[in-house]
Amino acid sequence: MKEDTYKKGKKNIENANLEDYAKAARTFTWKDSRKYVDWTEGGLNAAYNAVDRHAQTWRKNKVALYWEDEAGNAKKYTFEELSLLSNQVGNVLKDFGVERGDRVFLFLPRIPELYFSFLGILKIGAIAGTLFSAFQEQALFDRLENSGAKVLLTTRELKPRVDAVKKKLPELKHILIVDEEPFAKSVENASDALRIAHTDPDDYAFMLYTSGTTGKPKGVVHSHRAILQEHMTAHWVLDLRDEDAYWCTADPGWVTGIAYEILGSWSNGVAALVYAGRFDPDRWYKLLDKYNISVWYTAPTAIRMLMAAGDSLIKKHNLSHLRHLCSVGEPLNPEAVRWSIKVFGMPFHDTWWQTETGAICIANYPSMDIKIGSMGKPVPGLTAAIVDDNGHELGVNKEGNIALKPKWPSMMHTIWRRPQKYKSYFTNGWYISGDRGMMDKDGYFWFIGRADDVIKTSGERVGPFEVESALVAHPSVVEAGVIGKPDTMRGEIIKAFVVLEKSVIEKTKTKPQLEKIKEELSLYVKKHLAGHAYPREIEFMDKLPKTRSGKIMRRILKAKELGLPIGDTSTLEDY
Ligand code: PRX
Repeated sequence: MKEDTYKKGKKNIENANLEDYAKAARTFTWKDSRKYVDWTEGGLNAAYNAVDRHAQTWRKNKVALYWEDEAGNAKKYTFEELSLLSNQVGNVLKDFGVERGDRVFLFLPRIPELYFSFLGILKIGAIAGTLFSAFQEQALFDRLENSGAKVLLTTRELKPRVDAVKKKLPELKHILIVDEEPFAKSVENASDALRIAHTDPDDYAFMLYTSGTTGKPKGVVHSHRAILQEHMTAHWVLDLRDEDAYWCTADPGWVTGIAYEILGSWSNGVAALVYAGRFDPDRWYKLLDKYNISVWYTAPTAIRMLMAAGDSLIKKHNLSHLRHLCSVGEPLNPEAVRWSIKVFGMPFHDTWWQTETGAICIANYPSMDIKIGSMGKPVPGLTAAIVDDNGHELGVNKEGNIALKPKWPSMMHTIWRRPQKYKSYFTNGWYISGDRGMMDKDGYFWFIGRADDVIKTSGERVGPFEVESALVAHPSVVEAGVIGKPDTMRGEIIKAFVVLEKSVIEKTKTKPQLEKIKEELSLYVKKHLAGHAYPREIEFMDKLPKTRSGKIMRRILKAKELGLPIGDTSTLEDY
């Protein structure tokens, strides 16, 4: 491992929220975090901590949310406005019979309603679930059915996808259209006074579906207690301060958008930008400039795409307000860090965590030297280690599983309706993340890869099983095996190996015919599963490598794709 260190100067250290990482790592306990949040009459409500408590201080008229869409429409909301609007949504939901513990799902693009509705749900003690707006009917059905959602908030544009499956969802009682008159009017007419539910720290607050190697997506459930770690990491790692303008580019359909666009960031009282448009380098730089962004949290694929767009674009904009950059979601390659030092005068700080961990767990801190290519060190209060498959700690520079010592405040509480799945994460007193890594002699963690077949494409987590199921639902497909194929821009792309029906094979002999089928299959997955989870590459096979019990061996497909040795094939059927 060639080490290249970015040294932090005195100024970085003295100005950082976390001045002395080593001391905090030695002495901090989660009990100490309690004074950073507000326990109202013994309860802990994450949404109350994110906005309402600020509405009672000088921050009342401070802008919390700057919102802009692709067409250039812009809106802004103060902490008080977010507090009152979320109260109104809370009251509307109560009128629809929503009670504590009920699941209320949000299938919304990044519009302001998403943000204050999320908060309103938590404030009445219900559980908020977010659904990425690229999901199509199959993905929606799986998530809404498993969660037993009672109410769904969506838009006129997205509603037809829900309509296609709502008959099969008996627990879904109400579908509310946020951009239509009845809902908008009822929010407007609702009282803006709400008694916030005095939630216990362990009451469930929000849930998110995420993918593993096998089976349907898992409903990862988090409690209000998560706000403790979300607050502390937004303070220590993102280094948020009152004078900052902060931009997290994530979507609340994924965990980063919830933890660091709603809860942890607003809990620190920061003004945040939400951009509701697609990725576009020039537009992104314009936004950094226009909103005087000082702290920016984004993902490696976006950084690589900005690199590819060329440095001359940057010079057209005034980015002098930038002071701290962070990244999450996939490996941050050293070239991207070096590029950011060159063009922005500062490095991206890599952070590592997962939907299940609920908040940042391993990170680079503003005051700590960066070993470029490393994910940094565990958050104070947390114990991380590299362990073998039996949960025994390994020595330095040994490859193994990245593991965390339970419990930390933002650790998931359960997998919804699948307690066995939840249990399967733990071995010998460790939470096993599913990622492989290494720890060096100085305690820095290095990412190596996934231990399973989970795909990360443009930073988004996709389960191969969901894509395979979507493909085999197509009448021309007999079998499909799906892998993540390394890609210099997107980290990985989804590649599918497909066995076609005999009659289809007979009809499709020419190259254009085969290309046409590939296109049709990609489109089919895009339309039925999700706009982001379709295979960018498809290869037809006569048969797929399988175990004797009939399980497709993705490992072999991957080795074949990468031209690597196939490894142990003792469980393989004749192939
Ligand atoms: O494989 C790791 C990768 O993303 C996975 C978690 O994905 P998700 O639950 O969607 O949450 C993403 C945002 C918190 C991890 O198991 N991952 C996340 N951060 C990093 C990373 N891989 C390498 N480096 C990172 N910094």
